[in-house]
Amino acid sequence: VPTADELRSTVVTGISRGLGAALFAEAYRLGDRLVGVGRSFTAEQRALATDRPDRVALIEADLALESSIPPAKAIADALGDCARAVLLHNAAVIEPLGMVGALTPAEIATAVTVNLLAPMLLTNAFVAALPASVRRARVLFISSGAAHNVNEGTAIYSATKRGGEKYFEVVAAELARVDPRVTVGVVDPGIMDTSMQTFLRSADTPRREHYVGRYQRGELGDPVTVARQILASSVTR
Ligand SMILES: NC(=O)c1ccc[n+]([C@@H]2O[C@H](COP(=O)([O-])OP(=O)(O)OC[C@H]3O[C@@H](n4cnc5c(N)ncnc54)[C@H](OP(=O)(O)O)[C@@H]3O)[C@@H](O)[C@H]2O)c1
Repeated sequence: VPTADELRSTVVTGISRGLGAALFAEAYRLGDRLVGVGRSFTAEQRALATDRPDRVALIEADLALESSIPPAKAIADALGDCARAVLLHNAAVIEPLGMVGALTPAEIATAVTVNLLAPMLLTNAFVAALPASVRRARVLFISSGAAHNVNEGTAIYSATKRGGEKYFEVVAAELARVDPRVTVGVVDPGIMDTSMQTFLRSADTPRREHYVGRYQRGELGDPVTVARQILASSVTR
């Protein structure tokens, strides 16, 4: 566990499963103070928050609801007095899958809010909330190859990831000038064995066989391995 002047507070969204759960567990193992943001948490995460409030804080938030997304005050309270601060935008939804014209309006709005609006609002809150004690901060957007590929059936997901990449490109340039303590990046974690892939294999899209094939050939990454790589290479330590 690092000394107080090296304490790193790491905020991760969507930690109930998949890559987010792995990022949470791995950053905890590295000694970070963790702030989990999401609408559901594992029993283990809840127990940690109760037993080790110095190490783990959980913020209940449905990122599909703009009014539920934590404002700067909540982020500031959760970060505490830390020397380093990290924000990992992990939460995302793959739905709605299907062709334009056949999508449900509410599902489109949910995807844009979780995948794109929530990272925008949370980044705005995080930068505003950074305590004077912070010497270095990092914001990382978990993107996807879908941001650059044309995969029929995933127009909404692809657009939110591409939009996020552009948002963070501009924010990186802004912060390099106005608050150089903060660096900003995007990372494509690659295809991973999570519930998102389970859903893609079961959904009726032109790419279904592609996802089934990659699963059957054992090509899906292990989220724990990917989380380790992200923390080692994309998050400044
Ligand atoms: N898996 C892949 O092959 C793959 C490939 C490229 C990129 N990615 C990206 O990697 C990241 C993690 O994906 P994953 O595969 O781990 O996904 P996942 O298994 O589906 O997990 C998604 C996480 O996001 C949370 N979430 C969803 N909707 C939410 C909401 N309204 N409010 C709060 N939290 C919400 C979920 O929590 P709940 O329990 O509340 O639903 C869950 O913890 C995503 O950004 C994804 O786009 C994944």
